[in-house]
Amino acid sequence: MRPTILFLAALAANAAPTYTGAASCTECHPGQAQRQSQSNHAGALRPFADSTLANRFTSISESGFRHVYDKAGTTASRTQEAARMTLEWTFGSGAQAYTAVGRYGARWMEHRISYYTAAARLSLTPGHFGRNPVTAADALGIVQDPPTIARCFSCHSARTKAMPQGVDLSVIEPGVRCERCHGPGSDHIAAARARDAKRVSTSILNSGRLPAQAGVMVCGECHRTPDLARLLPTPELDDPLSVRFQPVGLMASRCFQVSKKLSCTTCHDPHESLRRSDAAFYTVQCLGCHGTAPGPGAECKRGGRQNCLPCHMGSVTPAPHLRFTDHRIRVN
Ligand code: HEC
Ligand code: HEC
Ligand code: HEC
Ligand code: HEC
Ligand code: HEC
Ligand code: HEC
Ligand code: HEC
Repeated sequence: MRPTILFLAALAANAAPTYTGAASCTECHPGQAQRQSQSNHAGALRPFADSTLANRFTSISESGFRHVYDKAGTTASRTQEAARMTLEWTFGSGAQAYTAVGRYGARWMEHRISYYTAAARLSLTPGHFGRNPVTAADALGIVQDPPTIARCFSCHSARTKAMPQGVDLSVIEPGVRCERCHGPGSDHIAAARARDAKRVSTSILNSGRLPAQAGVMVCGECHRTPDLARLLPTPELDDPLSVRFQPVGLMASRCFQVSKKLSCTTCHDPHESLRRSDAAFYTVQCLGCHGTAPGPGAECKRGGRQNCLPCHMGSVTPAPHLRFTDHRIRVN
């Protein structure tokens, strides 16, 4: 069961609180609001028409089809054959990639072509490899059933409502924003205005106050969690793509299992983007537990106090153009 769902169920015992949107938090939490609004979480979903993104989609020839783009959609064609889909939403902040999603007729479709930032080029969307398009419609992408598309929006936005035909976008707050991690804010804000200090705290979820594993599970609602019934000691051997799912690796680490203190927020500020290529920062977090004797392992006999990451937390490319960090901390 998702931790935020459990939290919502507990709240519902009183009066059901409602979502108020990230803008409603700014007044009292200007620091978090300012930083979070600039983060890749906040940018994880945007309307396609946002020109800075749409401009990356120019044209490409792939598997014998020519893809041409405009701000509202794309056409795939070859001699005597053409098909068109709308492009309505861009998934991904662009830290790694953008994937466009829109509609083919009335049905949701994930476009076959994505933009990859590191390579600065358009190429096949993950999951579309090995599918050879027969018709122009195939070349546009893959039709997604309503539950699948609802899950995409649920992980890339703060508020969505699943509907039989897909998702109700009238209530959506695009991007991973405040209330996706903290739960709906109306009761919390009312309590703050009434200066009811106790209710201020109990009306909002702060996973930083939970034990480490429960905190990791909140991030794992989207970054995925291992099957707790069969926690594998070597998840990456079972499925190399599981390196994308940081909680799966981290929870298989001795650092996590033995310390019982390690969580995602030990190394990541939940309100900011990644500290890319800042090895010194991450090494300080390792040394927080490993730097002093008698600590777990004390100082590394092989690496001393240098950058720990290349030897213990390597970088992996499980799919073309994408790079992930192996979160199962270990001797490689
Ligand atoms: C009218 C002022 C006000 C507004 C608006 C407000 N908060 Fe708060 N919030 C507070 C106060 C006061 C506290 C307790 C002291 C502190 O941590 O700053 C608090 C604490 C928190 C905490 C920590 C709770 C704990 O006990 O650990 C979180 C998380 C939080 N707020 C999230 C939010 C979110 C998300 C929103 C927007 C939906 C929001 N707040 C809107 C006043 C407000
Ligand atoms: C609602 C789903 C969701 C939840 C909950 C969530 N994330 Fe994310 N996270 C995402 C998505 C989607 C991205 C990809 C954003 C992008 O496209 O760059 C992401 C990206 C990240 C990144 C990379 C950011 C960058 O600068 O490239 C980090 C680090 C991260 N999340 C940490 C966390 C932590 C820590 C938590 C828990 C406190 C958490 N996430 C909870 C969905 C989520
Ligand atoms: C269970 C939650 C979840 C679902 C469902 C989901 N995503 Fe994501 N998505 C994430 C997280 C977490 C990240 C960031 C970490 C990563 O890249 O794996 C991400 C990253 C991305 C990225 C950035 C590239 C990348 O791999 O980092 C794109 C593009 C994307 N998702 C598109 C989609 C599309 C399109 C769908 C639906 C077909 C979808 N996602 C469904 C959680 C989800
Ligand atoms: C990806 C999940 C996530 C999102 C999105 C998010 N938070 Fe948080 N927030 C956390 C976590 C986790 C903590 C606990 C941090 C800790 O204790 O290390 C936290 C802590 C807080 C606190 C307590 C004080 C502090 O900074 O530790 C406040 C206030 C807060 N968040 C407000 C906000 C507001 C306002 C937004 C939107 C602008 C927001 N959060 C978005 C996960 C999130
Ligand atoms: C919250 C404390 C904590 C942090 C932070 C931490 N570790 Fe650990 N680590 C531990 C504990 C506890 C063990 C288990 C020691 C034992 O087996 O007795 C461990 C074990 C290890 C091992 C041996 C793993 C194995 O499978 O035998 C390595 C290597 C390691 N840590 C490296 C790192 C690196 C590199 C970082 C930073 C990226 C890091 N640790 C961060 C607590 C931590
Ligand atoms: C011991 C430190 C540490 C912990 C704990 C940790 N991370 Fe990371 N994480 C890193 C490092 C280092 C990177 C790579 C930074 C870079 O690219 O320069 C990273 C990168 C990421 C990325 C970007 C994609 C990737 O895999 O490179 C995401 C998303 C992410 N972490 C999510 C999480 C989540 C979710 C958790 C909790 C399950 C977590 N991290 C726990 C150190 C940590
Ligand atoms: C040049 C590669 C390298 C670097 C850099 C490095 N290590 Fe290691 N580390 C190793 C190797 C190899 C082992 C296994 C040593 C052995 O079995 O004798 C190891 C073992 C460990 C262990 C397990 C110790 C034990 O007694 O089993 C820990 C903990 C550890 N390293 C932590 C760190 C930390 C923290 C950093 C960064 C400050 C770091 N290492 C930097 C290569 C490295």
